[in-house]
Amino acid sequence: MIVLGIETSCDETGAAIVTDKKEILSNIILSQIADHAPYGGVVPEIAARAHLDHLDGLIAEALARAGVDLGALSAVAATGGPGLIGGVIVGVMTAKALALARGLPFLAINHLEGHALSVRLTSDVDWPYLLLLVSGGHCQLLLVEHVGGYRRLGTTIDDAVGEAFDKAAKLLGLGYPGGPALERAAQTATAPGRFALPRPMAGRPGCDFSFSGLKTALGRSLVGLPQPLSAGDAADLAAAFQMAVADVLVDRTARALALAVAAAPGCRTLVVAGGVAANRLVRTRLQALTHQAGWRFEAPPLGLCTDNAAMIAWAGLERLRLGQRDALDFAPRPRWPLDPAAPRAPGAGVKA
Ligand code: KG4
Ligand code: ZN
Repeated sequence: MIVLGIETSCDETGAAIVTDKKEILSNIILSQIADHAPYGGVVPEIAARAHLDHLDGLIAEALARAGVDLGALSAVAATGGPGLIGGVIVGVMTAKALALARGLPFLAINHLEGHALSVRLTSDVDWPYLLLLVSGGHCQLLLVEHVGGYRRLGTTIDDAVGEAFDKAAKLLGLGYPGGPALERAAQTATAPGRFALPRPMAGRPGCDFSFSGLKTALGRSLVGLPQPLSAGDAADLAAAFQMAVADVLVDRTARALALAVAAAPGCRTLVVAGGVAANRLVRTRLQALTHQAGWRFEAPPLGLCTDNAAMIAWAGLERLRLGQRDALDFAPRPRWPLDPAAPRAPGAGVKA
């Protein structure tokens, strides 16, 4: 089976060709960072137009690089949500048109399901596993029991963790996208313990997250410092922020390990995905946690941790193998929780 995957839910246009033998024949991603950088964040209208301009060409290139033509495809899968609606519409309409013209099955993939299953494309990971999804739009702990079986154990009640990194970097004048810039600045800190920041939610029951208070506390720490911030002050603040985030992620995930085992006794694997999984401190701390607990730690390779189309093609393959497909009247879903039974988190971001 060969599936074309399409990703357009945020600021990256992606097309990939993946087989059920776990071969990634091509995986092309076009970043719009330069288009959005002047605004310090993603502008939905600009994103939708950029997807429209580039998607057709990207699909043609993905097919060419894979050395297959449309006739070789078994199905077309596209992100059907959650995400910025303009972009999702572009991807879904393109996939439906190809499916209709070629008589192929169409699969509307939940972008979060793409993140949740991507580890199975590159490693042999069996059900059940615990997923920590840490991206620009989400911060969730999910118990993954099978394709379509996702139980949300915890989520952010305000900002997503990547969003918190981006806002913190903006406060510190470190540029966009903020996560990598903040990590680089933190590495140059000479007094990482100089500023005390809170650990929101740490020690509380359950495993929900909150990051907006941390950002506010960071803002308060700036008061009284010479402006514009010196590189040294920015580095020390960045280090303090990164440590606080890592502490919170470890505290909440430690609780989730126990909740996951209670719900699925065989669960012994933690999978981390999403852009923030690229952060070295976060990764090291979570690895140490799983090591202590006797769990296995898995993270997809960095290129598959951040948004990409291979994970959408793979989720399509997982569903196709089970005989699933979607109707061509599928309506794009800007909000689409993976676990429909979970209460909607107040103010949680819509992108993934
Ligand atoms: O998964 P992703 O590529 O896109 C979605 O949001 O779906 O995640 C992007 C987020 C951004 O907020 C970015 O600042 C953050 O991941 N990020 C990082 C790092 N690299 C990317 N945050 C902290 N440290 C990093 N090294
Ligand atoms: Zn994502």
